[in-house]
Amino acid sequence: MLNVEHLQAFYGNAQALEDISFTVNEGEIVCLIGNNGAGKSTTLMSISGIIKQKQGTIQFNGEDISQLPAHKIVSKGIIQVPEGRRIFPTLTVEENLKIGGFLKGKISKARLEEIYSIFPRLKERRKQLGGSLSGGEQQMLAIGRAMIGEPKLLMLDEPSLGLAPQIIDMIFDSIIALRKSGMTILLIEQNAELALDVSDRAYVVELGKCVLSGECEVLRNDQQIQSIYLGQHEQESVV
Ligand SMILES: Nc1ncnc2c1ncn2[C@@H]1O[C@H](COP(=O)(O)OP(=O)(O)OP(=O)(O)O)[C@@H](O)[C@H]1O
Ligand SMILES: [Mg+2]
Repeated sequence: MLNVEHLQAFYGNAQALEDISFTVNEGEIVCLIGNNGAGKSTTLMSISGIIKQKQGTIQFNGEDISQLPAHKIVSKGIIQVPEGRRIFPTLTVEENLKIGGFLKGKISKARLEEIYSIFPRLKERRKQLGGSLSGGEQQMLAIGRAMIGEPKLLMLDEPSLGLAPQIIDMIFDSIIALRKSGMTILLIEQNAELALDVSDRAYVVELGKCVLSGECEVLRNDQQIQSIYLGQHEQESVV
């Protein structure tokens, strides 16, 4: 479905991505793991067209989308939940969700109910302002808003960031529920343990390059992965 080959990306003169190649097949959850500054968010923003200074190829269902503007990429069905959520704090939960569907025109009640069935907390709080939600609820809202647009590929940038372990579990349960519903997901996570648990395949990004890839089950037992990315992960922050 998504095929990224030898992607390079730049911020002005600074090269953030040197050589990123990976694929996502329909129905898979694929994760990119890697430390701070490795180039994970830059990779997502290059795919979604936010970063324009780039080289290499990005194909979506066989079509080269690497030079398309961001709104065209969204209309192809690639929808990103950015790092830091960015919901609208002064709109209600339901208004936030409806905005996610602006490209689709009118949102059906059935679609809203589908989203609410994945995130019952959002239903309970549908009249509440986005800004009054907890961090975890805001993350649910950001994912729900992306889902309203009926993405073909959902890209999630660090959904666990800054959340308490219990809340993270809820978010990841909903990611698993989305996958069961047939959603294809590209997941970015610093928390490698979680990412390897929910994903089918993973790519390790270091200093702008993919250095390792494989089935998550295999990578979980890889000594290098264990020593660098697993076991020592600290949960520093809470909601
Ligand atoms: N707006 C920017 N201008 C210049 N350099 C940037 C910019 N954003 C990111 N970078 C640099 O690009 C590199 C990759 O950053 P990126 O945000 O993609 O990393 P990341 O893997 O998402 O890290 P994190 O886990 O901390 O979110 C880093 O060296 C970073 O300093
Ligand atoms: Mg990032």
